[in-house]
Amino acid sequence: MANIEIIPLSDAIGAEIRGLDLRVPLDAATVSAVEQAWYDHVIILFRDQDLSYDHQKAFASQLGEIAARGGDSATAQEKSLSENVMLVSNIRENGKPIGTLPDGEMMFHSDTPYMDNPRKATLLYAIEVPSEGGDTLFSNSYKVAETLPEEIKHRLAGRKAMQVYDYAAQFKPDGSYDRSVHPHCAQPIFRKHPETGRTSLFVSELMTDEIIGLPEDESRDLLNFLFEHQRRDEFVYAHAWRPGDLLMWDNRCSVHARTDFPSDQRRLLRRLTLYDEHPVMMGEPPYREAAAQ
Ligand code: SIN
Repeated sequence: MANIEIIPLSDAIGAEIRGLDLRVPLDAATVSAVEQAWYDHVIILFRDQDLSYDHQKAFASQLGEIAARGGDSATAQEKSLSENVMLVSNIRENGKPIGTLPDGEMMFHSDTPYMDNPRKATLLYAIEVPSEGGDTLFSNSYKVAETLPEEIKHRLAGRKAMQVYDYAAQFKPDGSYDRSVHPHCAQPIFRKHPETGRTSLFVSELMTDEIIGLPEDESRDLLNFLFEHQRRDEFVYAHAWRPGDLLMWDNRCSVHARTDFPSDQRRLLRRLTLYDEHPVMMGEPPYREAAAQ
């Protein structure tokens, strides 16, 4: 097994793994150690990597099955790499972005909760980054769930929320998304992580439209309360990207957002995701699993 170091990135979430060159295939024990660090810390970071698309794909394949890219409008540059890849980029050729989610700020969300089988992992590799801003913020959805008031946990236990997304949106529109045209799926609000058994809160400001079965006002008030709780500093780590960073996050137990950045500076990251099973509803509270993080 490789000699790796695991160094927490913050009190809230995340760890850096040192000692690996991700261009080289990992032995089984090292894959297990990387997976365990990911389960313990929710997001893992590898710095100073020099990865082609094939390297990124080979590394990702050691951790799960690479998923089809979400979204309905891959660019020619994305398609030229693979049907699975997303380029998160504001770079434009002939006036058109070469990638997806191009400019500025983005609200908290997980990747693809509006699908029946949301992606478990996202692996984002930084190629070009602006000199300031464009940070990705990660909130720890285990800690968010565990610290909710007991009364709120009991009101939400056993309920589902409608997850909906317009692929062009980086901010939620006023009111709801139009479900006749946008993908949507009802998902448990508290989900049980299939590997750790822990409870996470599975809602987000960008993609959660409604708590099913509650009057509209009550649903909206509760969601706003949850979104505010999710944004609290104590649960959030802000990642300032450097070229060569590969970050892998767990969409089952985290949400992420993006800060604004100068529109005249280039930002280019390459994204792959991994398939997962359908989310499992958690039982009754209390949700207070002891935890590394
Ligand atoms: C994403 O939400 O997948 C993109 C995050 C980012 O651009 O920082």
